[in-house]
Amino acid sequence: MMDYIAEQNRYDEMKYFRSGKSGLKLPGVSLGLWHNFGTNDDFENMEAMCRTAFDLGITHFDLANNYGPEYGSAEENFGKIINGTLKRYRDELIISTKAGYDMWPGPYGNWGSRKYLLASLDQSLKRMGLEYVDIFYHHRMDPETPLEESMMALDTAVKQGKALYAGISNYDAKTTEKAMEILRDLKCPFVINQVRYSIFDRWIEKDGLKKFASENGCGLIAFSPLAQGLLTDKYLHGIPKDSRIRKDGRFLKESAITKERLAQIEALNQIAKERGQSLAQMALSWVLRDGDVTSVLIGASRPEQIRENVKIVEKTKFTEDELRKIDEISNR
Ligand SMILES: NC(=O)c1ccc[n+]([C@@H]2O[C@H](COP(=O)([O-])OP(=O)(O)OC[C@H]3O[C@@H](n4cnc5c(N)ncnc54)[C@H](OP(=O)(O)O)[C@@H]3O)[C@@H](O)[C@H]2O)c1
Repeated sequence: MMDYIAEQNRYDEMKYFRSGKSGLKLPGVSLGLWHNFGTNDDFENMEAMCRTAFDLGITHFDLANNYGPEYGSAEENFGKIINGTLKRYRDELIISTKAGYDMWPGPYGNWGSRKYLLASLDQSLKRMGLEYVDIFYHHRMDPETPLEESMMALDTAVKQGKALYAGISNYDAKTTEKAMEILRDLKCPFVINQVRYSIFDRWIEKDGLKKFASENGCGLIAFSPLAQGLLTDKYLHGIPKDSRIRKDGRFLKESAITKERLAQIEALNQIAKERGQSLAQMALSWVLRDGDVTSVLIGASRPEQIRENVKIVEKTKFTEDELRKIDEISNR
């Protein structure tokens, strides 16, 4: 695979949006490596997904220290890809990783201490065989560690040249505002908050984060925009063998497929058809509908899904009537 040459026209169709008020632009669709890049997954498929994504203008690949399983294995597998087929394209790529969840035993392998964050980033760089990542995230709010300490650790990572930008993930509006203030005082380039957001999960609207971010130059990248696959037509006729529920079941469980959920998915699927999109495409377009979200962070189990999903950047406008119907269905 060393002789892979990316598509000449890879930048023709994708759209790139500025992350907050920073200098960094991200593709409308980014690829996350949470699932399907672990120890027991097929390496050829991983490589094919990364190549397909890049050929379609997806410049942003998102990781975390503990993606796998085994913890760290997604970074190791991606390390082989970025040092193999994608090596010559490093300067065209935005690679992110995170620390904040359970990683290694004892009091220094979790949450938000300086001790954990900086040691974890060193481990991530080693696993990926990289000198720096583009974005280093604190993965979740830590109720015990002072916010200053976690933010100063991100700043140190940037000042050491191990990360170009700082990010936070799963931070609510109030804490995002404080984190931004601290990073601004440190003159640390903060770019984005990575949060769960989909037609089925509106917490960033209720919390005020979506509005705060758009008014205050904070980028947002939406993870699990398909609610891990629920917002597609795949579960409408039973649970396929090759679906996340059957193959993994740790994070998306069979119990998520209730009669009520299926009725919502069916109704949304109908609206998608009327728009000339698949349900997956409509769900992703919806996230980008008003410009508040910088990028929609998808997962994929095969290259075809990525091909289908990137098409959404052409169709992110909705009519008032469509939006009202989608709200009505998701509130049922
Ligand atoms: N910061 C955080 O705390 C956090 C938490 C979670 C995730 N993330 C990030 O967000 C990324 C995406 O999360 P996610 O994987 O939950 O996102 P998602 O896009 O909601 O779900 C992805 C899954 O949906 C299915 N799918 C994708 N495209 C499809 C299509 N066109 N048709 C049918 N099914 C389709 C695939 O599952 P099948 O296996 O069923 O085919 C795929 O693995 C992660 O990789 C990670 O980088 C961050």
